[in-house]
Amino acid sequence: MIQFSRNAQGHKCNTSVFSQAQTRIVRRVHSMVADYAPTALRELPELANRLGVRAVFVKDESSRFGLKAFKGLGGIYAMYRMICEALELDPEAATLDMLRTSPCRERIGEMHFATTTDGNHGKGVSWAAGVFGCHAHVFMPKGSVEVRAQAIRDAGSAEVAITDMAYDDCVAWTSRIAEENGWLLIQDTSWEGYEQVPLWIMQGYTTLFYEAMNQMKTRPTHLFLQAGVGAMAGAIAGAALETCPSAPIIATVEAEQVACFYESFKAGDGLPHKATGSGETIMAGLNCAVPCTLAWDILGGRAIGGFACSDEVTELGMRLLSRENPPIVAGESGAVTAGLMEALADAEYSDVRDNLRLDRDSVILLINTEGDTDPDNYRSIVYHG
Ligand SMILES: Cc1ncc(COP(=O)(O)O)c(C=O)c1O
Repeated sequence: MIQFSRNAQGHKCNTSVFSQAQTRIVRRVHSMVADYAPTALRELPELANRLGVRAVFVKDESSRFGLKAFKGLGGIYAMYRMICEALELDPEAATLDMLRTSPCRERIGEMHFATTTDGNHGKGVSWAAGVFGCHAHVFMPKGSVEVRAQAIRDAGSAEVAITDMAYDDCVAWTSRIAEENGWLLIQDTSWEGYEQVPLWIMQGYTTLFYEAMNQMKTRPTHLFLQAGVGAMAGAIAGAALETCPSAPIIATVEAEQVACFYESFKAGDGLPHKATGSGETIMAGLNCAVPCTLAWDILGGRAIGGFACSDEVTELGMRLLSRENPPIVAGESGAVTAGLMEALADAEYSDVRDNLRLDRDSVILLINTEGDTDPDNYRSIVYHG
């Protein structure tokens, strides 16, 4: 059900771009958005008890901007920066009201953005395009469900198409057609030569971490972070390493059939590797086989290791969180870390707990990264499972 691979290599990395000081502008931009409000931080004392730790906290992103996932944090901040760059505005001084008035509004109305998504990032981009009044073209990999495509259209102003390509091929293709059409690529993963926009997206995610730091009375000793391409995990890890006085223990958590960080740690050569699994998982947001270069720099350098989890682990987490009072609605990619904590409480995993130095003083921070983004599947897992 779960496998753990320790990161034997590690390397030095620079996390200062995720520090509180360097991301102040991110929080300024988010707080200008009409729908902005900090999301809830929930404590799970019974799970902490079963696991034998001091506390387990869950930052619940299921209500972020009404989009049911954290991803809009990155999309809107990066789009803001790209618009400021195109219009030669100072991003420290510009305001959303300024961008909505002439002559900015007309120029923004002519801008086109493009991205690939397995759901939530595209929804954030579509929503952000609606906020700014520009165009968005969103492409989805094969196997994407129509309900997610429609949710992206409904969130804002994007045109959406489901392609017949795997996620990573779709990313490369979108990058090419964006260039051919003069559209701006707003992709939530980086590669050599394409790092500025993904860095803005990653910095956008740090708002959820700094909110959590304001909400917690203590600092986390452990973070378990879902990874698709790893951009979210890398950003939160970077912010945590900058903020917590003693460096927290950080582990990635992936779907076992598409576990690029787990497999890279297992390879043990200090390099990122493409996942070799079938790519079949209900955790759609984690279905990415190639690590983001910026994320690898941080997680390959500083994570203790990575978990590969079967779909049953996230189903366990979805049910567990739904039984909280009030319920925490956690979708397939959101609940896997809670399911992992429940699985780790079993005596069978005492060596893994020791490896992670989990004990009575540990304070764990998890992120429920999405709500019921596929409501039919959510219902069938939580109510009929
Ligand atoms: C709900 C959810 N959780 C986690 C992730 C993983 O984020 P990343 O691809 O940055 O690792 C995603 C990515 O789309 C997601 O949609």
